[in-house]
Amino acid sequence: MTTTGERAGGGLGGPAGNWREDNRALWDERVPLHTESAFYDVAGFKAGRNDLRGFEADEVGDVTGKRLLHLQCHIGTDTLSWARRGAEVTGLDFSGPAVEAARALAGEVGEERARFVEADVYDAPAALRGETFDIVYTGFGALCWLPDLTQWARTAAQLVAPGGFLYLAEFHPVAMCLGEDGSAFTEDYFARGPFAYEEPGSYAALTAATRHNRSVEWQHPLSDVVSAVTAAGLRLEFLHEHDFTLFEYLDGMVRARDTSGSRGGESTVYRLPEGRPRIPMVYSLRASK
Ligand SMILES: C[S@@+](CC[C@H](N)C(=O)[O-])C[C@H]1O[C@@H](n2cnc3c(N)ncnc32)[C@H](O)[C@@H]1O
Repeated sequence: MTTTGERAGGGLGGPAGNWREDNRALWDERVPLHTESAFYDVAGFKAGRNDLRGFEADEVGDVTGKRLLHLQCHIGTDTLSWARRGAEVTGLDFSGPAVEAARALAGEVGEERARFVEADVYDAPAALRGETFDIVYTGFGALCWLPDLTQWARTAAQLVAPGGFLYLAEFHPVAMCLGEDGSAFTEDYFARGPFAYEEPGSYAALTAATRHNRSVEWQHPLSDVVSAVTAAGLRLEFLHEHDFTLFEYLDGMVRARDTSGSRGGESTVYRLPEGRPRIPMVYSLRASK
């Protein structure tokens, strides 16, 4: 997920190029940087921290004994946080090093029942041999890597067991269109991409020297997300918009501890300062089968 950098926009087939290979190379290279980063603070995670945001824990509800699939699980900290809340978890990611790191972390924290699978999101039903889950979870920096939301939603719906649900928590596309000083919109909300970026480092390793720096990303207006989910046959239970985010990516943001989740969990969040008009910066939705 790129929070800075110039968009090199254009039509599909233009800058998208070998988007999957480019994105995978980028993620593969960033895995060891992330496992060592202060941002992911793996040592703190091993010491018992739970990385889920309070509102996620509340909105998903009790996961005890539930089979939960985390799509695009990265190094597994969020996946294993659900396991710490009692879910039987499967994490899936197309980055081999991410899956290896997640497996290693699961072993180290003693979550032996957690399982991690290397596969592209769009291939998940085949990779999981038709298995279905009580909860399909995905979030924060996931959808921007996917070109086709209709296909993504169909895939996610296929993975939800009858009576189960999809839960998504993501950065709000409105907030992603603001310029860095937060005072004006500098990007087109309705431009869907692909956008090619060339940027070293990452949100968790800002100054790291990296070789694989090309990413190809998409922006999905909220209406596209909701329409894709409902067209896939899932029933929308709620769509929530939140006035905080997880990154300090706009000038003047105020850091706060969010302890609002009634099921526990604390996280650092960032808000616009008092007196500035609020905008939605994160959204979450739940849709059931
Ligand atoms: C920003 S990270 C997600 C962070 C995540 N919310 C967490 O728990 O830390 C995005 C992840 O998506 C994965 N990814 C990107 N495109 C993918 C695809 N087509 N299929 C599967 N995984 C993908 C990347 O490898 C990366 O681990």
